[in-house]
Amino acid sequence: MRTPLIAGNWKLFKTIGEATALVNDLKPLVASTSGVEIVVAPVFTALSRVSEAMAGSNIHLAAQNCYWEEEGAFTGEVAPKLLKDAGCSHVIIGHSERRQYFGETDGTVNKKAKAAIAAGLTAIVCVGETLAEREADKTFAVIETQVTGGLEGFSVESLTHAVIAYEPVWAIGTGKTASDAQAQEVHAVIRGLVAKLFGQAAADGIRILYGGSVKPDNVKGLMAQTDIDGALVGGASLKADSFAAIVNFAA
Ligand code: 13P
Repeated sequence: MRTPLIAGNWKLFKTIGEATALVNDLKPLVASTSGVEIVVAPVFTALSRVSEAMAGSNIHLAAQNCYWEEEGAFTGEVAPKLLKDAGCSHVIIGHSERRQYFGETDGTVNKKAKAAIAAGLTAIVCVGETLAEREADKTFAVIETQVTGGLEGFSVESLTHAVIAYEPVWAIGTGKTASDAQAQEVHAVIRGLVAKLFGQAAADGIRILYGGSVKPDNVKGLMAQTDIDGALVGGASLKADSFAAIVNFAA
């Protein structure tokens, strides 16, 4: 069975002090949670200190981005092995905000995901259609292009270190969640696509997270869907009580 994964994407919020305070507040609220992989993704500058603050807890650390080279003359970039060095076990790749504002493509997502996995990280690869694409009935075509391009050249083994996050762009930060059925429909398409590309066992094993206005009051319905294996949470992950309520969706 697939272990549910609940990840908090803190985006461009929180100083080092605020980030460590949040993880310290979160720890007791999820200390007795079992059977859920819990991940938080602070800004780069807070990673190392948050890693120290969460030591010995059941919370894992993710970065929000990485580069694909290990080192070199690449001013301003951060390599996957440096994320490991800072205490990360996971990294978010190709979030729609990076695609929208920072020119990321399926090609760069593919290189980053491969480099992250080669360095021993779990890559959380994000896909999702815009409102215009959904309204033009292009959702499945867009998702197929993003999943196929993002995972191009992956081995079945490397895919076991990947997680897919489906985040419809129109649901991010808008308070408009996809309905349970809308989300499930796309998740099933993604799993079918992984089966076609990598075989049924790979498809059965891969976790597909939903993201986009996930809150304590809608997480249960989403998590009850057959092909939804977790959540990538933005706004509601910035407070310990609401993120803990999402993590403890099964309680
Ligand atoms: P919100 O939960 O704020 O809609 O953000 C979703 C998201 O982008 C998580 O990566």
